[in-house]
Amino acid sequence: MPAKVVVVGSLNMDLVTRAERLPRGGETLIGKSFATVPGGKGANQAVAAARLGAQVSMVGCVGDDAYGEQLRGALLAEAIDYQAVSVIEGSSGVALIVVDDSSQNAIVIVAGANAQLAPEVVAGFDAILQAADVIICQLEVPYSTVGYALKRGRELGKTVILNPAPASGPLPADWYASIDYLIPNESEASALSGLPVNSRESAEAAASQLIAAGAGKVIVTLGAQGSLFADGARFDYFPAPKVEAIDTTAAGDTFVGAFAAALAAGKSEAEAISFGQVAAALSVTRAGAQPSIPTLSDVQAFSPS
Ligand code: RIB
Repeated sequence: MPAKVVVVGSLNMDLVTRAERLPRGGETLIGKSFATVPGGKGANQAVAAARLGAQVSMVGCVGDDAYGEQLRGALLAEAIDYQAVSVIEGSSGVALIVVDDSSQNAIVIVAGANAQLAPEVVAGFDAILQAADVIICQLEVPYSTVGYALKRGRELGKTVILNPAPASGPLPADWYASIDYLIPNESEASALSGLPVNSRESAEAAASQLIAAGAGKVIVTLGAQGSLFADGARFDYFPAPKVEAIDTTAAGDTFVGAFAAALAAGKSEAEAISFGQVAAALSVTRAGAQPSIPTLSDVQAFSPS
């Protein structure tokens, strides 16, 4: 029986254009392509965990529009349990994404139905949380709901992961004691800690501060540089495999979902981080959010060049 990962989080339809570069304020650019692609940090992490070997349930909300139907359909296609993805009146979450020729992106999200994922909705699916081995949250649903899910996960004795994305400032102080693994990227680590994070030393300083705040362990993802693991006693660096990136959208989500799936399957932290890094590296070689996420056989077949 595969291990059980439960994701409490967002589902968005991504409206993606490719352009030579990101537009400046007030500027109109001619794009090269347009696509609608299932995304949302929560759903992306659920898809990553499922493609990489975990049995996955998702708790979230979509609107009663065509996007909502497609977003639930995308979970169904991955055999993800979506009985706890409620359909509510109104629009689904959307993300407006521009990807440039250097594979960087700019994203604006509109929460839509994700804003309706109240703590009471999650509490109504407590049996799903109880069945979890690992619970993952992000920050695209109301903070009250994230706080509830983290604390309930801790009460139930589950492994609790928070990917604090997108982050605009410090986290509520009373969340930290419920977090086993806090997984920010550099800018999120900076927003959470209030420290600039742009080097190994500064990533270590931020990670130490987040552990002092109460997080169990911190993994700062450093993009093409790999990731930094910190547990309060030591720092470990995990270099990223070298690949040709065409679109970094959902690379962080792929890392988080892959890490959770590997951890739930009983792998060590080091194995789970390395596994996550290969999965994330593969994801940046493909376009889009969910379409870019590799399968277990893709990861197993990967050999660094
Ligand atoms: O992390 C990538 C995701 O961020 C996209 O799929 C988009 O929906 C936004 O939530």
